[in-house]
Amino acid sequence: MIKRTIVAMPGDGIGKVVLDEAIRVLDAAGFNADYVHGDIGWEFWCTEGNPLPDRTLRLLEEHKIGLFGAITSKPKDKAEAELSADLKNKGYVYYSPIVSMRQRYDLDICMRPCRTFKGNPLNFIRRGFGDTIEEPMIDTMIFRQNTEGLYGGVEWTNPPDQVYDALMTHPKFKQNFDWCPRPELAVSTRIFTKKYTTRIVRAAFEYAKARGFNAITVCEKPNVIRETSGMMLKIAQDLAKSEYPGIYVNDTNIDAQMMWLTKNPEHYNVIVAGNMFGDIVSDGFAGLVGGLGFACSANIGPEISVFEPTHGSAPKYAGYHPSIVNPIAMILSACMMLDHLGESEISNRIQRAVADVILEGKVKTYDIMKLPGKQDVCDKGAASTQQMAEAVIQKV
Ligand code: NAI
Ligand code: MG
Repeated sequence: MIKRTIVAMPGDGIGKVVLDEAIRVLDAAGFNADYVHGDIGWEFWCTEGNPLPDRTLRLLEEHKIGLFGAITSKPKDKAEAELSADLKNKGYVYYSPIVSMRQRYDLDICMRPCRTFKGNPLNFIRRGFGDTIEEPMIDTMIFRQNTEGLYGGVEWTNPPDQVYDALMTHPKFKQNFDWCPRPELAVSTRIFTKKYTTRIVRAAFEYAKARGFNAITVCEKPNVIRETSGMMLKIAQDLAKSEYPGIYVNDTNIDAQMMWLTKNPEHYNVIVAGNMFGDIVSDGFAGLVGGLGFACSANIGPEISVFEPTHGSAPKYAGYHPSIVNPIAMILSACMMLDHLGESEISNRIQRAVADVILEGKVKTYDIMKLPGKQDVCDKGAASTQQMAEAVIQKV
């Protein structure tokens, strides 16, 4: 096995805790790697006016693979207020470092798997026929376009003349919005390009093919958002015809999909969506398989890829000793990194270890026990973050 170098970017709050634990699991499983530390997060915004310093970008460019914990983002006024005195009023503007990273390195393919672990008390259950209780085994991969759409950042309040004039050329804009004083007008765009839409749809098809699934679901809203959602659906239908004839294109609207996922989530194995709808539907599915403590993700670009749990920095738990949060989302994100690097044997071993710990049910973090997240949860039998990671290591 060649020795890898991984850029470890813990970030803020619980990001620091869970990343250390995931690295401990990777080491125990025999993954041969060095970890170089990458600065990222709120403290670098406050002290340097940049939450994603250039030195971290250089590390990513050199080593190509990042493991990322979580960052803290705060609204505009708080960001201003917490910037160090000598940087104030110098034109520094806060941008989320993870969104910047995705856009800068074209990390356009976001994969968010949601799989049921047997024995997880947090699993979704429903009533079946004749008052039976059913616990469907969910095995869904959500492909979320990660760089465009509503999170593309092209937006204005009080749009400049050229933008306003361009909007006025659209009959619907003129008809519905020309009454609005310009300073009271906010516009956020939803831009899709054929190139990147094709890349995310193709990634979904390739995954379906590799796993032997005979359908993908495009989860958008093409009946209303005709141009962008319509583009994604059309690309999927065309690709199915030309390149993936054995794979059927199912088409759901995001709103209806949020209802379907509480009815028959096991029927969806591969979902593809734009940036915002992918964000929404992946959180929805994550809720069926254990929530934020289990939700992992990969951000894959042509050259650089970054792996991260979907949860944030959970500031209220950041100062807890021992830490109580669930490290599994971070550990499973590390497994996605291993799969990406072709180290599937180690990845499978870690995933099996996690599955065994959950099935055995002896070691449970507070979220699995459904306890309110308080410092005293360990006195009530909950495992700490470290104990959960240790239990996984014992099985590995
Ligand atoms: P959050 O994900 O940090 O926490 C929400 C709640 O989810 C927590 O209070 C906790 O109850 C639960 N939770 C999260 N991670 C958990 C874990 N590993 N185990 C058990 N329970 C867990 O989201 P919140 O509170 O909305 O945001 C906090 C900060 O994180 C904000 O500054 C936000 O901007 C940032 N954030 C960063 C993200 C990232 O780094 N990719 C993603 C989401 C939020
Ligand atoms: Mg989200």
